[in-house]
Amino acid sequence: MHTQIKDPSATSQSHNSLLFHQAANVIPGGVNSPVRAFGAVGGTPAFIKSGKGAWIIDEDNTQRIDMVCSWGPLILGHAHEEVISKVKYAADNGLSCGAPTQTETLLAEEIRRRVPVCEKVRFVSTGTEATMTAIRLARGYTKRNILIKFSGCYHGHSDGLLGEAGSGIATGALPSSAGVPEDIAGQTIVLPYNDTEALTECFEKRGDDIAGVIVEGAAANMGVIAPLPGFYTSIRQLCTTYGALMIMDEVLTGFRVSPAGWWGLHTRSNEARVAYEENMPGIPQQEDYTPDLFCFGKVVGGGMPLAALGGRSEIMDFLAPLGPVYQAGTLSGNPLSTIAGLTTLRNATDDVYRHIALTSSQLCTYIKEESEKIGLPLHIGQAGSLFSLFFSDKPVTNYKEAKTCDTFRYTPLFWQMFNSHVYLPPSVFEAWFLSSAHKEKELDIICDAIPNALRAAADAQAQ
Ligand SMILES: Cc1ncc(COP(=O)(O)O)c(C=O)c1O
Repeated sequence: MHTQIKDPSATSQSHNSLLFHQAANVIPGGVNSPVRAFGAVGGTPAFIKSGKGAWIIDEDNTQRIDMVCSWGPLILGHAHEEVISKVKYAADNGLSCGAPTQTETLLAEEIRRRVPVCEKVRFVSTGTEATMTAIRLARGYTKRNILIKFSGCYHGHSDGLLGEAGSGIATGALPSSAGVPEDIAGQTIVLPYNDTEALTECFEKRGDDIAGVIVEGAAANMGVIAPLPGFYTSIRQLCTTYGALMIMDEVLTGFRVSPAGWWGLHTRSNEARVAYEENMPGIPQQEDYTPDLFCFGKVVGGGMPLAALGGRSEIMDFLAPLGPVYQAGTLSGNPLSTIAGLTTLRNATDDVYRHIALTSSQLCTYIKEESEKIGLPLHIGQAGSLFSLFFSDKPVTNYKEAKTCDTFRYTPLFWQMFNSHVYLPPSVFEAWFLSSAHKEKELDIICDAIPNALRAAADAQAQ
């Protein structure tokens, strides 16, 4: 019988532990974003001293392969030489002046090259701002108020978007957040993901009030759940019929699952085709739809605070200073973030996407085989190169199903991997991330750790 592994660093002597206590004295919960507190897996979070390539080193000098990659941005791994050197060069020329710089235009052009429907792009600093602004724009453009989102999809922490918002909220076992006025929450309708019937019914009842539908480019905040065939095409058709905007939130998937994000992979845009074989697990059946607005974050800033929204000029020009929808930001499009993003995208070549897709596919196949050997019920949710584990014998298609899996099995698996030098996301509802720096050596180490971790998960008992 395998005992459940606890965090060995959580002793009073460990630097991680001391630093966490020190932090908790001045920072609520000791962290600046809730999932970092390890609440879902217990124990003490590792305080990270440095990262290089696929590896991070914590304050106890333990090295681990990083499968969080800053929650997605680090598609080239930590401290990529060219990204760092360009950021250093930009820093030498001043951190920010709150005036236009050429790099902003170059980055906008790179985004438009990859996702041509983004004729115009506006930069902000976080994914939260990007979705918040896209929604305001959809409301300003349609002159309507109601927004539809799907349960388990996370779009950042602005007031109207916290209903059934997936990972961070699910980890705290909350349906939503306190502090959101009912009037604001009431402007958002939350429907089950992958449920075309519910969406159609909602449009039939409220179609004239609906400003937009926001959906993740493949859900990845309730575990990874790809859209069922036809779901996104139906969203597009319903939005067109009723005059609402389709907002594709590619903050997590954008420029990560393919050169043109989830949309590119799903529609087989020229830019995206390079990365995958047609029959690769995780590649969706081809569909043909074009969202009105896209939100980007994470990879687009290469690890720096940068996000963006983009769409057709006709809609984007509704933003100030040309249009009546206000949006601004002191540090929006600052030189350090834009050069980090531009250099990251320029280095995120076809080979990078192909490598990550292949590595992810090999790892998923191995995990599946090993779980079958020991009879552990496991479904791997895959969306392109993104994946996560659901402890269930059935495929998972929505948030309700994700929450009813054997989530308790993740904690021992997480710690077993942690103690085997593999840093996984500290929540079962988060995707596992790879980068171009995760090479054969790292894959071998991860695979060596998998069998014991799966056995620990299999031995876990519900509390
Ligand atoms: C799909 C999606 N949208 C929006 C956000 C919010 O981005 P940020 O944390 O940069 O505000 C996230 C963050 O994880 C996300 O995954």
